[in-house]
Amino acid sequence: MADHKKIILTGDRPTGKLHIGHYAGSLKRRVELQNSGEFDQIFIMIADAQALTDNADNPAKIRDSIMEVALDYLSIGIDPAVSTIFVQSHVSELTELSFYYMNLVTVSRLQRNPTVKSEIQMRNFETSIPVGFFTYPISQAADITAFKATTVPVGEDQAPMLEQTREIVHKFNSVYGETLVEPHILLPENEACLRLPGTDGKAKMSKSLGNCIYLSDPEEDVQKKVMSMYTDPDHIRVQDPGKLEGNTVFTYLDAFSNDGHFAEYLPEYANLDELKDHYRRGGLGDVKVKKFLNRVMQEELSPIRQKRAAYEKDIAGVYEILKKGSLAAKQTAADTLSEVKHAMKIDYFDAPDFLSEQRKRFQS
Ligand code: TRP
Repeated sequence: MADHKKIILTGDRPTGKLHIGHYAGSLKRRVELQNSGEFDQIFIMIADAQALTDNADNPAKIRDSIMEVALDYLSIGIDPAVSTIFVQSHVSELTELSFYYMNLVTVSRLQRNPTVKSEIQMRNFETSIPVGFFTYPISQAADITAFKATTVPVGEDQAPMLEQTREIVHKFNSVYGETLVEPHILLPENEACLRLPGTDGKAKMSKSLGNCIYLSDPEEDVQKKVMSMYTDPDHIRVQDPGKLEGNTVFTYLDAFSNDGHFAEYLPEYANLDELKDHYRRGGLGDVKVKKFLNRVMQEELSPIRQKRAAYEKDIAGVYEILKKGSLAAKQTAADTLSEVKHAMKIDYFDAPDFLSEQRKRFQS
């Protein structure tokens, strides 16, 4: 490929408001990458078409979540002047690309995709898997390759999607000639951010379990959720030694706290290691640790909350951002689709040689 641009594409399914797990796993990093100035282009996609693959009967939920997710993006600091925010279904080229990529993927390969496998289980799809859902890894490959993305910052659960995409890229390029760009996954560096548990200690954070802290939660809600977080169930009295493994409060501190927080809010400890040591030894109560975590979380979330409030007063402005972004994304995807069709030799009416070639065949 001629161009060596550094391009980011990533996105989220709009099935509700985004929560702190999304934030730790990917959103925070996106803003850092955006502000690093190292990328030539950044595309952030609201994956409504993908959300419909397992929510076909609930389009109203997806419709309302478009704006929620857009507000979440803007309030964490995604800057529409730098990053293109767009809506997947508005870029019909993605559907077209998916259709061609489907020829390059086998059913058994999709069946082996670990993320698809576990999602099928979670949704009780075992006996009747919607075809659209089953093939969404292919559509995700279209999302990524349409923008020639080199870098895809996502959570750990998306690793199989990236692998699938890279396979499609290899296959396409080897069958039709060098056209598509191979993307790389960018995972969180912080171990605790890879898979942040719910506030109840369960591995999966989900709306239906009621164990999420949302980016849009008011201060009191965050405080309530932090103060009732799951800790070590055997740590009953303050003087008891406490366990850190599976202790949600400490996992969140691993993900969000830094030495500056200690200096400011808990100066009797220099850092998280000292706090952990004390907890393990005994003599440190959960309430004290939770109060500290609450300060840390509020510091992280209050600027986001403020920004959100400002954007909520200008929904028409957010609407324009999405509309403009979607149009720009469509143009980029259309360019890639043209290249794909050319490589696949189905660009009959755009290529000047099709007519002459066929006339020669028929000698007309
Ligand atoms: N599958 C992603 C999720 O569930 C959303 C998504 C769709 C995506 N297309 C993408 C992420 C392309 C990164 C790149 O959150």
